[in-house]
Amino acid sequence: MSSIKALRARKVLDSRGNPTIEVDIITDGLFRAAAPSGASCGEHEAVSFPKSVDECVSEVKDGIAKRIVGRHADVVEIDKLLREIDGTGNFSRIGGNPAVAISMAVAKAEASSKGIPLYAHVNKLLGSFGCKTKTGMPMPLGNVLGGGAHAVGGTNIQEFLVVSQGKTASESVFANAQVHKRVKEKLMGKYPGIAIGKGDEGAWVARVDDEEALEIVSSACSQVGDESGVSIKPGLDMAASELWDGKKKKYIYRGVERTNDEQIDFVLGLIEDYRLYYVEDPMEQNDFDGFARLTKKAHCLVCGDDLFVTNAARFSQGIKIKAANSILIKPNQIGTMSDMLMAVALAINNGYAAVVSHRSGETADDTIAHIAFGVGAQMIKTGAVGGERIAKLNELIRIEEGLYGN
Ligand code: PGA
Ligand code: ZN
Repeated sequence: MSSIKALRARKVLDSRGNPTIEVDIITDGLFRAAAPSGASCGEHEAVSFPKSVDECVSEVKDGIAKRIVGRHADVVEIDKLLREIDGTGNFSRIGGNPAVAISMAVAKAEASSKGIPLYAHVNKLLGSFGCKTKTGMPMPLGNVLGGGAHAVGGTNIQEFLVVSQGKTASESVFANAQVHKRVKEKLMGKYPGIAIGKGDEGAWVARVDDEEALEIVSSACSQVGDESGVSIKPGLDMAASELWDGKKKKYIYRGVERTNDEQIDFVLGLIEDYRLYYVEDPMEQNDFDGFARLTKKAHCLVCGDDLFVTNAARFSQGIKIKAANSILIKPNQIGTMSDMLMAVALAINNGYAAVVSHRSGETADDTIAHIAFGVGAQMIKTGAVGGERIAKLNELIRIEEGLYGN
């Protein structure tokens, strides 16, 4: 195992133009990772930057680096050290984003010292967390139309998603991009002359209501599916915590308010009517019971994002009552590779589908492509188009090609 000779940290841009942190770990090579950030963050997530990004970067350079340099590039040990330095349980002292950038860069250095690709190392690490599984190509899940916290003036529901199951990663990735294009054509055909924008993840944004958006996306899926021979299905990220009014105890949509029971019936209706493959966060982030009631009746994947926040303790609570049947895995929600892999191990060992995910604010960092392939995740949720999204999608194509010797 090689030792860490230097740790560098800097403030870099994310895709929204906000600052984030990038870390270099120097061993016998240079290993780099950058942290993303969310717009519709769960309230139980690690605190990404407890202070300004500049202050967090300085703390890494001036303080944390001294504790890490000279140690072995051993991600599990470095993750423990990060937790110890932070001492708060949710990274509210040093920040989940500085922690995850260090953790991911160390994992890359460790993989290199073993002479294996990052995904193969991730797979071995998962084994050490009690989950022996094969690597495997995830289906890409991409956002093609939306609104919510990711765009002004779009739909109530945050993300209208598509998932393609091609024979190869390349076929699936191109099928999703084709649906993205077709959705724009349909919007332009239906509303000639209206302004169509793009949200933070590259999905189209137009003033259409939720069901109309679903009509457009599901018909684009069937058309492109018929033309390409690839199975393409629609899904949703409802990001329901963003719709939830805790005082009124209702979900607030433009023109409609829904109680808990009405929300469950509404979502179940959408699943049936549009044969949805996947629904993320249909209920607000503290409603484990609502998630369980909905999952019992839903004939599709029901995924917990803000509900579980990649946190093994919250996830265990959900598993007990069968809240959801799938978990979104976002490394920066929890702050270290080790904690993230604990959540993945729980998912696989309990029959939950793992969906490794980007954030709405991203960089060109492609680590999640290796994580998704390394753990054999069912899906990778990382948009359909856009530079910071294709960084991950194109890396999947390279992994599949065997570029790293697989
Ligand atoms: P976020 O949104 O990255 O803005 O939190 C993505 C999601 O809710 O899945
Ligand atoms: Zn989500």
